[in-house]
Amino acid sequence: MHITMIGGGYVGLVSGACLAAFGTEVTVIEHDPARLDRLEAGDIPLYEPGLDELIARQRQAGRLAFSDDLASALQKSRAVFIAVGTPTRRGSGHADLSYVYAAARAIAAHAPDNLLIVTKSTVPVGTGRQVAAIVRQARPDLTFHIASNPEFLREGHAITDFIQPDRVIIGLEETTDASSPARTLLETLYAPLNGPESRLIFMGLESAELTKYAANAFLAMKVTFANEMADLCEATGGQITDVTRGMGLDPRIGPHFLTPGPGYGGSCFPKDTQALATSARLAGTPTQLVETTIAANEARKRRLAERILTLAGGSITDCTIAVLGLTFKAHTDDMRQAPSLTILPLLHEAGAALRVYDPQGMDTARCLLPDGILYADSPLHAAEGADMLLVLTEWPDFAALTPTRLAAHMKGRRILDCRQIWQAEDWQKAGFDYHCLGIGP
Ligand code: UGA
Repeated sequence: MHITMIGGGYVGLVSGACLAAFGTEVTVIEHDPARLDRLEAGDIPLYEPGLDELIARQRQAGRLAFSDDLASALQKSRAVFIAVGTPTRRGSGHADLSYVYAAARAIAAHAPDNLLIVTKSTVPVGTGRQVAAIVRQARPDLTFHIASNPEFLREGHAITDFIQPDRVIIGLEETTDASSPARTLLETLYAPLNGPESRLIFMGLESAELTKYAANAFLAMKVTFANEMADLCEATGGQITDVTRGMGLDPRIGPHFLTPGPGYGGSCFPKDTQALATSARLAGTPTQLVETTIAANEARKRRLAERILTLAGGSITDCTIAVLGLTFKAHTDDMRQAPSLTILPLLHEAGAALRVYDPQGMDTARCLLPDGILYADSPLHAAEGADMLLVLTEWPDFAALTPTRLAAHMKGRRILDCRQIWQAEDWQKAGFDYHCLGIGP
Protein backbone atom coordinates (compact mmCIF):
# COMPACT_ATOMS: atom_id res chain seq x y z
CA MET A 1 0.00 0.00 0.00
CA HIS A 2 1.15 3.54 -0.74
CA ILE A 3 0.22 6.65 1.23
CA THR A 4 1.05 10.36 1.00
CA MET A 5 2.02 12.47 4.00
CA ILE A 6 1.65 16.22 3.41
CA GLY A 7 4.22 18.09 5.53
CA GLY A 8 7.86 17.28 6.22
CA GLY A 9 7.73 18.87 9.68
CA TYR A 10 7.97 17.14 13.01
CA VAL A 11 4.77 15.09 12.93
CA GLY A 12 4.95 14.38 9.17
CA LEU A 13 8.51 13.09 9.30
CA VAL A 14 8.07 10.93 12.38
CA SER A 15 4.70 9.53 11.26
CA GLY A 16 5.94 8.99 7.68
CA ALA A 17 9.08 7.17 8.79
CA CYS A 18 7.24 5.03 11.37
CA LEU A 19 4.42 4.08 8.98
CA ALA A 20 7.10 3.13 6.45
CA ALA A 21 8.67 0.95 9.15
CA PHE A 22 5.25 -0.74 9.53
CA GLY A 23 5.60 -1.80 5.87
CA THR A 24 3.69 0.93 4.01
CA GLU A 25 5.20 2.91 1.13
CA VAL A 26 5.17 6.59 2.06
CA THR A 27 5.81 9.76 0.06
CA VAL A 28 6.33 12.80 2.27
CA ILE A 29 5.39 16.01 0.45
CA GLU A 30 7.47 19.05 1.36
CA HIS A 31 6.93 22.33 -0.48
CA ASP A 32 9.81 24.33 0.98
CA PRO A 33 12.60 23.75 -1.60
CA ALA A 34 15.45 24.26 0.87
CA ARG A 35 13.93 21.82 3.36
CA LEU A 36 13.20 19.31 0.59
CA ASP A 37 16.84 19.50 -0.58
CA ARG A 38 18.02 18.81 2.96
CA LEU A 39 15.64 15.87 3.38
CA GLU A 40 16.71 14.38 0.07
CA ALA A 41 20.35 14.76 1.06
CA GLY A 42 19.64 12.84 4.29
CA ASP A 43 20.17 15.98 6.41
CA ILE A 44 17.18 15.86 8.78
CA PRO A 45 16.31 19.45 9.72
CA LEU A 46 15.31 18.73 13.32
CA TYR A 47 16.76 16.92 16.29
CA GLU A 48 14.89 13.80 17.38
CA PRO A 49 16.80 10.82 18.79
CA GLY A 50 16.89 7.96 16.25
CA LEU A 51 14.94 9.76 13.51
CA ASP A 52 17.77 10.22 11.01
CA GLU A 53 18.72 6.53 11.24
CA LEU A 54 15.09 5.42 10.88
CA ILE A 55 14.59 7.66 7.84
CA ALA A 56 17.81 6.41 6.24
CA ARG A 57 16.78 2.76 6.77
CA GLN A 58 13.31 3.29 5.32
CA ARG A 59 14.67 5.16 2.30
CA GLN A 60 17.19 2.39 1.71
CA ALA A 61 14.38 -0.15 1.85
CA GLY A 62 12.56 1.89 -0.80
CA ARG A 63 9.56 2.56 1.44
CA LEU A 64 10.10 6.28 2.11
CA ALA A 65 10.53 9.10 -0.39
CA PHE A 66 10.45 12.91 -0.29
CA SER A 67 8.90 14.99 -3.05
CA ASP A 68 7.08 18.21 -3.87
CA ASP A 69 4.91 16.52 -6.50
CA LEU A 70 1.60 15.95 -4.73
CA ALA A 71 -0.27 15.05 -7.94
CA SER A 72 2.00 12.08 -8.73
CA ALA A 73 2.12 10.88 -5.13
CA LEU A 74 -1.69 10.94 -4.83
CA GLN A 75 -2.19 8.92 -8.02
CA LYS A 76 -0.63 5.86 -6.36
CA SER A 77 -1.99 6.50 -2.84
CA ARG A 78 -4.91 4.92 -0.99
CA ALA A 79 -4.68 7.54 1.77
CA VAL A 80 -3.31 11.03 2.30
CA PHE A 81 -2.41 12.37 5.74
CA ILE A 82 -2.45 16.11 6.40
CA ALA A 83 0.43 16.80 8.81
CA VAL A 84 0.98 20.54 8.41
CA GLY A 85 1.42 23.18 11.11
CA THR A 86 -1.51 24.78 12.94
CA PRO A 87 0.22 27.66 14.76
CA THR A 88 -1.62 30.21 16.88
CA ARG A 89 -3.06 32.96 14.68
CA ARG A 90 -1.46 36.30 15.49
CA GLY A 91 -3.50 38.42 17.89
CA SER A 92 -5.96 35.66 18.80
CA GLY A 93 -5.96 32.26 20.45
CA HIS A 94 -7.33 30.65 17.26
CA ALA A 95 -5.41 27.94 15.47
CA ASP A 96 -4.29 29.15 12.05
CA LEU A 97 -5.82 26.60 9.67
CA SER A 98 -4.60 28.15 6.43
CA TYR A 99 -2.05 25.35 5.82
CA VAL A 100 -4.67 22.66 6.50
CA TYR A 101 -7.17 24.23 4.11
CA ALA A 102 -4.49 24.79 1.46
CA ALA A 103 -3.64 21.08 1.73
CA ALA A 104 -7.36 20.22 1.38
CA ARG A 105 -7.60 22.32 -1.80
CA ALA A 106 -4.44 20.73 -3.23
CA ILE A 107 -5.78 17.26 -2.44
CA ALA A 108 -9.09 18.13 -4.09
CA ALA A 109 -7.26 19.14 -7.26
CA HIS A 110 -5.49 15.78 -7.67
CA ALA A 111 -7.31 13.14 -5.61
CA PRO A 112 -8.07 9.80 -7.24
CA ASP A 113 -11.45 8.18 -6.48
CA ASN A 114 -11.87 6.47 -3.09
CA LEU A 115 -8.99 8.33 -1.46
CA LEU A 116 -9.00 8.42 2.34
CA ILE A 117 -8.14 11.92 3.65
CA VAL A 118 -6.79 11.81 7.21
CA THR A 119 -6.14 14.86 9.39
CA LYS A 120 -3.08 14.25 11.57
CA SER A 121 -2.39 17.90 12.40
CA THR A 122 -3.84 19.12 15.70
CA VAL A 123 -7.01 20.89 14.58
CA PRO A 124 -9.98 22.49 16.35
CA VAL A 125 -13.22 20.58 16.48
CA GLY A 126 -15.10 20.85 13.20
CA THR A 127 -12.01 21.07 10.98
CA GLY A 128 -12.34 17.55 9.55
CA ARG A 129 -15.82 18.30 8.27
CA GLN A 130 -14.56 21.61 6.88
CA VAL A 131 -11.81 19.74 4.98
CA ALA A 132 -14.48 17.40 3.58
CA ALA A 133 -16.61 20.40 2.55
CA ILE A 134 -13.67 21.98 0.70
CA VAL A 135 -13.00 18.76 -1.25
CA ARG A 136 -16.70 18.20 -1.93
CA GLN A 137 -17.16 21.71 -3.23
CA ALA A 138 -14.17 21.47 -5.58
CA ARG A 139 -14.93 17.92 -6.79
CA PRO A 140 -18.67 17.21 -6.36
CA ASP A 141 -18.36 13.89 -8.22
CA LEU A 142 -15.36 12.53 -6.31
CA THR A 143 -15.87 9.61 -3.91
CA PHE A 144 -13.63 10.02 -0.88
CA HIS A 145 -13.55 9.27 2.85
CA ILE A 146 -12.31 11.31 5.77
CA ALA A 147 -10.83 10.50 9.16
CA SER A 148 -9.15 12.25 12.05
CA ASN A 149 -6.05 10.59 13.51
CA PRO A 150 -4.44 13.00 15.99
CA GLU A 151 -0.88 12.36 17.12
CA PHE A 152 0.17 12.00 20.77
CA LEU A 153 3.95 11.68 20.46
CA ARG A 154 6.33 13.68 22.64
CA GLU A 155 9.41 15.39 21.28
CA GLY A 156 12.49 13.49 22.36
CA HIS A 157 10.54 10.20 22.56
CA ALA A 158 8.68 10.47 19.28
CA ILE A 159 9.63 7.15 17.70
CA THR A 160 8.89 5.03 20.78
CA ASP A 161 5.64 6.91 21.30
CA PHE A 162 4.60 6.21 17.69
CA ILE A 163 5.51 2.54 17.58
CA GLN A 164 4.40 1.74 21.14
CA PRO A 165 1.41 4.03 21.63
CA ASP A 166 -1.00 3.83 24.57
CA ARG A 167 -3.73 4.28 22.01
CA VAL A 168 -4.33 5.35 18.43
CA ILE A 169 -7.34 7.63 18.21
CA ILE A 170 -9.31 7.43 14.98
CA GLY A 171 -12.30 9.65 14.29
CA LEU A 172 -14.64 8.61 11.48
CA GLU A 173 -17.69 10.12 9.81
CA GLU A 174 -19.46 6.79 10.01
CA THR A 175 -18.86 5.12 13.38
CA THR A 176 -21.41 2.31 13.28
CA ASP A 177 -20.10 0.52 10.17
CA ALA A 178 -17.26 -1.78 11.30
CA SER A 179 -16.31 -2.53 7.69
CA SER A 180 -16.31 1.04 6.36
CA PRO A 181 -13.46 1.65 3.85
CA ALA A 182 -11.87 4.29 6.10
CA ARG A 183 -11.84 2.02 9.13
CA THR A 184 -10.56 -1.01 7.21
CA LEU A 185 -7.74 0.98 5.62
CA LEU A 186 -6.58 2.47 8.91
CA GLU A 187 -6.75 -0.95 10.59
CA THR A 188 -4.45 -2.27 7.86
CA LEU A 189 -1.99 0.64 8.20
CA TYR A 190 -1.73 0.24 11.96
CA ALA A 191 -1.97 -3.59 11.99
CA PRO A 192 1.65 -4.06 13.24
CA LEU A 193 0.65 -2.30 16.48
CA ASN A 194 -1.97 -4.81 17.42
CA GLY A 195 -1.11 -7.47 19.94
CA PRO A 196 -3.83 -9.48 21.66
CA GLU A 197 -5.72 -6.23 22.17
CA SER A 198 -6.20 -3.54 19.57
CA ARG A 199 -4.69 -0.14 20.35
CA LEU A 200 -7.09 1.49 17.89
CA ILE A 201 -9.94 3.47 19.43
CA PHE A 202 -12.67 4.46 17.00
CA MET A 203 -15.01 7.38 17.60
CA GLY A 204 -16.68 10.25 15.76
CA LEU A 205 -14.66 12.96 13.99
CA GLU A 206 -15.51 15.65 16.56
CA SER A 207 -14.63 13.42 19.50
CA ALA A 208 -11.24 12.58 18.01
CA GLU A 209 -10.45 16.25 17.39
CA LEU A 210 -11.49 17.14 20.93
CA THR A 211 -9.58 14.22 22.49
CA LYS A 212 -6.28 15.64 21.26
CA TYR A 213 -6.89 19.08 22.78
CA ALA A 214 -8.42 17.67 25.95
CA ALA A 215 -5.39 15.41 26.54
CA ASN A 216 -2.85 18.20 26.06
CA ALA A 217 -4.85 20.67 28.15
CA PHE A 218 -5.27 18.15 30.94
CA LEU A 219 -1.52 17.42 31.00
CA ALA A 220 -0.78 21.16 31.00
CA MET A 221 -3.17 21.57 33.96
CA LYS A 222 -1.49 18.67 35.78
CA VAL A 223 1.96 20.26 35.38
CA THR A 224 0.57 23.63 36.47
CA PHE A 225 -1.05 22.06 39.53
CA ALA A 226 2.29 20.45 40.47
CA ASN A 227 3.96 23.85 40.03
CA GLU A 228 1.45 25.47 42.39
CA MET A 229 1.87 22.68 44.96
CA ALA A 230 5.65 23.15 44.71
CA ASP A 231 5.22 26.84 45.58
CA LEU A 232 3.01 25.89 48.51
CA CYS A 233 5.60 23.35 49.73
CA GLU A 234 8.29 26.02 49.64
CA ALA A 235 6.11 28.40 51.66
CA THR A 236 5.05 25.84 54.25
CA GLY A 237 8.00 23.45 54.64
CA GLY A 238 6.74 20.52 52.55
CA GLN A 239 8.67 18.50 49.96
CA ILE A 240 7.03 18.36 46.54
CA THR A 241 8.71 15.04 45.65
CA ASP A 242 7.00 13.40 48.65
CA VAL A 243 3.68 15.06 47.92
CA THR A 244 3.62 14.05 44.24
CA ARG A 245 4.79 10.51 45.05
CA GLY A 246 1.99 10.26 47.58
CA MET A 247 -0.54 11.62 45.09
CA GLY A 248 0.73 9.74 42.06
CA LEU A 249 0.47 6.29 43.64
CA ASP A 250 -3.29 6.72 43.52
CA PRO A 251 -4.06 5.13 40.13
CA ARG A 252 -6.83 7.67 39.63
CA ILE A 253 -4.14 10.38 39.57
CA GLY A 254 -1.05 8.58 38.22
CA PRO A 255 2.61 9.57 38.71
CA HIS A 256 3.30 11.34 35.40
CA PHE A 257 3.42 15.07 34.65
CA LEU A 258 3.71 16.01 38.30
CA THR A 259 7.32 17.25 38.22
CA PRO A 260 7.48 20.99 38.90
CA GLY A 261 9.48 23.13 36.53
CA PRO A 262 9.91 26.65 35.18
CA GLY A 263 6.53 26.47 33.40
CA TYR A 264 5.48 24.31 30.47
CA GLY A 265 6.51 25.32 26.96
CA GLY A 266 6.93 23.75 23.54
CA SER A 267 5.06 23.80 20.30
CA CYS A 268 1.99 22.07 21.71
CA PHE A 269 0.79 22.82 25.24
CA PRO A 270 0.82 26.63 24.89
CA LYS A 271 -0.76 26.60 21.42
CA ASP A 272 -3.29 23.85 22.14
CA THR A 273 -4.50 25.25 25.47
CA GLN A 274 -5.06 28.61 23.73
CA ALA A 275 -6.91 26.98 20.84
CA LEU A 276 -9.09 24.87 23.16
CA ALA A 277 -9.97 27.87 25.31
CA THR A 278 -10.86 29.85 22.18
CA SER A 279 -13.02 27.06 20.70
CA ALA A 280 -14.80 26.69 24.04
CA ARG A 281 -15.44 30.42 24.36
CA LEU A 282 -16.83 30.50 20.82
CA ALA A 283 -19.06 27.53 21.62
CA GLY A 284 -20.42 29.44 24.64
CA THR A 285 -18.93 26.98 27.15
CA PRO A 286 -15.74 28.64 28.44
CA THR A 287 -13.13 26.30 29.96
CA GLN A 288 -12.20 28.25 33.07
CA LEU A 289 -9.66 25.68 34.26
CA VAL A 290 -7.78 25.86 30.96
CA GLU A 291 -7.87 29.68 30.89
CA THR A 292 -6.52 29.84 34.44
CA THR A 293 -3.81 27.32 33.55
CA ILE A 294 -2.63 29.50 30.66
CA ALA A 295 -2.46 32.60 32.88
CA ALA A 296 -0.77 30.74 35.77
CA ASN A 297 1.89 29.32 33.44
CA GLU A 298 2.71 32.72 31.96
CA ALA A 299 2.97 34.30 35.41
CA ARG A 300 5.21 31.48 36.63
CA LYS A 301 7.98 32.24 34.13
CA ARG A 302 8.07 35.90 35.13
CA ARG A 303 7.98 35.03 38.84
CA LEU A 304 11.01 32.80 38.39
CA ALA A 305 13.02 35.76 37.12
CA GLU A 306 11.90 37.76 40.18
CA ARG A 307 12.90 34.87 42.42
CA ILE A 308 16.43 34.91 40.99
CA LEU A 309 16.62 38.61 41.72
CA THR A 310 15.51 37.98 45.32
CA LEU A 311 18.03 35.13 45.72
CA ALA A 312 20.77 37.50 44.60
CA GLY A 313 19.75 39.98 47.32
CA GLY A 314 17.61 42.31 45.21
CA SER A 315 20.04 43.20 42.44
CA ILE A 316 21.75 41.23 39.69
CA THR A 317 23.63 44.14 38.16
CA ASP A 318 27.16 42.87 37.59
CA CYS A 319 26.08 39.37 38.60
CA THR A 320 27.21 36.57 36.26
CA ILE A 321 24.59 33.87 35.86
CA ALA A 322 25.34 30.53 34.19
CA VAL A 323 22.28 28.99 32.56
CA LEU A 324 22.07 25.28 31.71
CA GLY A 325 19.28 24.43 29.28
CA LEU A 326 17.54 26.79 26.84
CA THR A 327 15.02 24.61 25.01
CA PHE A 328 11.53 23.97 26.44
CA LYS A 329 12.65 20.63 27.89
CA ALA A 330 15.57 18.20 27.50
CA HIS A 331 16.18 15.89 24.49
CA THR A 332 15.04 18.43 21.90
CA ASP A 333 16.41 21.39 19.94
CA ASP A 334 12.99 23.07 20.08
CA MET A 335 12.98 26.62 21.50
CA ARG A 336 9.29 27.27 20.87
CA GLN A 337 7.67 28.87 23.95
CA ALA A 338 10.68 27.84 26.05
CA PRO A 339 10.61 29.40 29.54
CA SER A 340 14.16 30.65 28.84
CA LEU A 341 12.68 33.06 26.27
CA THR A 342 10.79 34.89 29.04
CA ILE A 343 13.24 34.45 31.92
CA LEU A 344 16.56 35.30 30.27
CA PRO A 345 15.55 38.63 28.67
CA LEU A 346 14.26 39.75 32.11
CA LEU A 347 17.58 38.82 33.77
CA HIS A 348 19.52 40.47 30.95
CA GLU A 349 17.46 43.65 31.29
CA ALA A 350 18.07 43.66 35.04
CA GLY A 351 21.81 43.83 34.36
CA ALA A 352 23.01 40.21 34.71
CA ALA A 353 25.82 38.89 32.53
CA LEU A 354 24.52 35.59 31.09
CA ARG A 355 26.66 32.58 30.11
CA VAL A 356 24.40 29.93 28.61
CA TYR A 357 24.72 26.36 27.35
CA ASP A 358 22.32 23.93 25.68
CA PRO A 359 23.26 20.65 23.98
CA GLN A 360 20.94 21.20 20.98
CA GLY A 361 19.18 24.56 21.10
CA MET A 362 21.95 27.15 20.84
CA ASP A 363 21.70 27.94 17.11
CA THR A 364 18.02 28.85 17.40
CA ALA A 365 18.50 30.52 20.79
CA ARG A 366 21.04 32.95 19.31
CA CYS A 367 18.32 34.33 17.01
CA LEU A 368 15.73 34.66 19.78
CA LEU A 369 17.59 35.87 22.86
CA PRO A 370 18.95 39.41 23.35
CA ASP A 371 22.46 40.29 22.14
CA GLY A 372 25.31 40.27 24.62
CA ILE A 373 24.79 36.72 25.94
CA LEU A 374 27.78 34.37 25.95
CA TYR A 375 27.09 30.98 24.33
CA ALA A 376 29.39 28.46 26.03
CA ASP A 377 30.89 25.27 24.60
CA SER A 378 30.03 23.09 27.59
CA PRO A 379 28.23 23.26 30.96
CA LEU A 380 31.56 23.89 32.72
CA HIS A 381 32.47 26.65 30.27
CA ALA A 382 29.12 28.31 31.08
CA ALA A 383 29.85 27.99 34.80
CA GLU A 384 33.29 29.67 34.47
CA GLY A 385 33.42 32.61 36.90
CA ALA A 386 29.64 32.55 37.52
CA ASP A 387 28.14 33.91 40.73
CA MET A 388 25.02 31.82 40.31
CA LEU A 389 23.91 28.81 38.26
CA LEU A 390 20.40 28.28 36.94
CA VAL A 391 19.22 24.88 35.62
CA LEU A 392 16.27 25.15 33.22
CA THR A 393 16.18 21.70 31.57
CA GLU A 394 16.88 18.16 32.68
CA TRP A 395 19.59 16.87 30.27
CA PRO A 396 21.49 13.88 31.77
CA ASP A 397 24.77 15.73 31.06
CA PHE A 398 23.76 18.39 33.57
CA ALA A 399 22.69 15.83 36.17
CA ALA A 400 26.16 14.23 35.88
CA LEU A 401 27.92 17.42 37.06
CA THR A 402 29.28 17.17 40.61
CA PRO A 403 29.75 19.86 43.30
CA THR A 404 33.54 19.43 43.09
CA ARG A 405 33.63 20.02 39.33
CA LEU A 406 31.33 23.03 39.47
CA ALA A 407 33.13 24.51 42.49
CA ALA A 408 36.35 24.47 40.47
CA HIS A 409 34.75 26.70 37.81
CA MET A 410 32.19 28.92 39.56
CA LYS A 411 33.09 32.03 41.49
CA GLY A 412 29.96 32.00 43.67
CA ARG A 413 28.17 29.03 45.21
CA ARG A 414 24.49 29.76 44.52
CA ILE A 415 22.37 27.34 42.48
CA LEU A 416 18.71 27.37 41.45
CA ASP A 417 17.81 23.96 40.07
CA CYS A 418 14.40 24.23 38.38
CA ARG A 419 14.25 20.55 37.38
CA GLN A 420 15.24 18.61 40.52
CA ILE A 421 18.23 17.09 38.74
CA TRP A 422 20.42 16.97 41.86
CA GLN A 423 20.12 15.92 45.51
CA ALA A 424 20.05 19.01 47.73
CA GLU A 425 22.18 17.39 50.49
CA ASP A 426 25.11 16.68 48.13
CA TRP A 427 25.37 20.34 47.26
CA GLN A 428 24.69 21.71 50.71
CA LYS A 429 27.40 19.43 52.16
CA ALA A 430 29.82 20.82 49.57
CA GLY A 431 29.06 24.38 50.74
CA PHE A 432 26.66 25.43 47.96
CA ASP A 433 23.65 27.66 48.61
CA TYR A 434 21.42 25.22 46.75
CA HIS A 435 17.77 25.93 45.94
CA CYS A 436 15.33 23.82 44.00
CA LEU A 437 11.62 24.03 43.31
CA GLY A 438 9.22 22.65 45.87
CA ILE A 439 11.50 22.02 48.82
CA GLY A 440 10.54 24.11 51.83
CA PRO A 441 12.97 25.52 54.36
C1 UGA B 1 3.17 17.11 24.32
C2 UGA B 1 2.37 15.87 24.76
O1 UGA B 1 3.00 15.25 25.90
C3 UGA B 1 2.27 14.84 23.62
O2 UGA B 1 1.46 13.75 24.03
C4 UGA B 1 1.66 15.52 22.41
O3 UGA B 1 1.58 14.65 21.29
C5 UGA B 1 2.51 16.73 22.03
O4 UGA B 1 2.57 17.65 23.14
C6 UGA B 1 1.84 17.37 20.83
O5 UGA B 1 0.71 17.83 20.96
O6 UGA B 1 2.41 17.31 19.74
P1 UGA B 1 5.77 17.71 24.05
O7 UGA B 1 5.33 19.10 23.70
O8 UGA B 1 6.83 17.04 23.25
O9 UGA B 1 4.50 16.69 24.05
O10 UGA B 1 6.31 17.84 25.54
P2 UGA B 1 6.00 17.20 26.97
O11 UGA B 1 6.98 16.15 27.27
O12 UGA B 1 4.57 16.84 27.09
O13 UGA B 1 6.29 18.47 27.90
C7 UGA B 1 5.55 19.67 27.76
C8 UGA B 1 6.04 20.70 28.75
O14 UGA B 1 5.66 20.34 30.09
C9 UGA B 1 7.57 20.86 28.77
O15 UGA B 1 7.89 22.22 28.92
C10 UGA B 1 7.98 20.08 29.99
O16 UGA B 1 9.21 20.51 30.56
C11 UGA B 1 6.81 20.36 30.92
N1 UGA B 1 6.65 19.32 31.96
C12 UGA B 1 6.25 18.07 31.64
C13 UGA B 1 6.89 19.66 33.29
O17 UGA B 1 7.26 20.82 33.61
N2 UGA B 1 6.70 18.70 34.25
C14 UGA B 1 6.29 17.44 33.96
O18 UGA B 1 6.12 16.62 34.90
C15 UGA B 1 6.07 17.11 32.61
